[in-house]
Amino acid sequence: MLPTASTRQPATGGSVSLAAQFMATRQLLETLLEPLSEADATIQSMDDASPAKWHAAHTTWFWETFLLRDRAPEYRLFNEDFPFLFNSYYEAEGDRLLRRNRGLVTRPTLADVLEWRAHVNEAMLPLLDDPAHADLVTLGIAHEQQHIELLLTDIKHALSKNPIGPAMWNTPQVAKPQQEDGWISHPGGIARIGHQSDGFAFDNEGPVHRALLEPFALSRRLVTNGEWDAFIADGGYEDHRLWLSDAWAWLDRCNIRKPLYWHDGEQFTHCGWQERDPDAPVTHISYYEADAFASWAGARLPTEFEWEAIARGQDTPDSDAAFNASAGNQLDHAAPPQPVGTSELFGDCWQFTRSAYLPYPRFAPAEGAVGEYNGKFMAGQWVLKGASCATVRGHSRASYRNFFYPQQRWQFTGLRLAKDL
Ligand code: AVJ
Ligand code: FE
Repeated sequence: MLPTASTRQPATGGSVSLAAQFMATRQLLETLLEPLSEADATIQSMDDASPAKWHAAHTTWFWETFLLRDRAPEYRLFNEDFPFLFNSYYEAEGDRLLRRNRGLVTRPTLADVLEWRAHVNEAMLPLLDDPAHADLVTLGIAHEQQHIELLLTDIKHALSKNPIGPAMWNTPQVAKPQQEDGWISHPGGIARIGHQSDGFAFDNEGPVHRALLEPFALSRRLVTNGEWDAFIADGGYEDHRLWLSDAWAWLDRCNIRKPLYWHDGEQFTHCGWQERDPDAPVTHISYYEADAFASWAGARLPTEFEWEAIARGQDTPDSDAAFNASAGNQLDHAAPPQPVGTSELFGDCWQFTRSAYLPYPRFAPAEGAVGEYNGKFMAGQWVLKGASCATVRGHSRASYRNFFYPQQRWQFTGLRLAKDL
């Protein structure tokens, strides 16, 4: 059964005040640091991942730079060195530490960073409920929620590199897969794509525009571990006919034969090595692998426009209801994220689309440094839709566009098949 309109919930926040959302988001990130040692929080296990301490600091830099420095006249920088250390990629904000050297920052300590966080929280309080700052505060909260997800996936990668496979938490989430089979069909037509309500959205979700859809169907469920085992057993990783040329070269160069974090019948999780449930959604796959699997299954990946039309319940004859973007398996509190398999469209795993991450017609990035947030990454990446078990509940929506490079797989990525009708 598709969710009905009555199960719809407000998007991020709803009636909760911005001050309360700010404090809850700041607190959630700090609670996630509690199980970590100083060393856990400091190391960088690969260029794509950042230390947990860096996430705690960079999100604080964001508030200091884009709100306090520019809009709180009395505010003085907490530490003059921190902008260099914790600016991520904003050219307009000046020089910064090379991304790959983030793990070398043994000082400030985690305690120093937590002190900075408390200082910035205090200074932010008078700005939080002033409508003049609401747009930037909302952006800052959404930004910190993105970094909560990245913190979780980055620490998972770091712990996975330790041969003893340490657990960040000891109580794994028990998978109770309840995915439904079948397809949601769509007759095609002109879809209205992009953010079209009053709530917050990132600039890359607009402007609203039309996209032409041919008749198609989208699977009601995510591809499972068991299906991926069958793909492997059938020689999927050895059959060049299934793979894009870049993908085939990547398999060879990196010796890829299974999803990230798989070993025999187990997978690495935030609770250490755990047995894989064949009925739970497969995760930690690349775009290259998702595309090859879809070919093997006689299907394809959906476009981002098809996915969004289904999410909105636009023109779907078997449903006139939108899916609830706040439902499904998403992050509510500091607990181990793990895909379990629900019948929701959102949650469990980000879903690869076959759409390149490109600007929508008439897109223009915002003025100033925050204009660097999304727009400058629109080359060579793919759009993912939905949300994952590590996405803060309320963060995503039908128009949300996540994006990654086609070989990256340390996020909770999965796939939902589509087919032509
Ligand atoms: C949307 C997850 C690709 O990882 O750079 C964080 C999120 N943007 N700070 C990223 C983000 C700015 C972004 N992704
Ligand atoms: Fe950031």
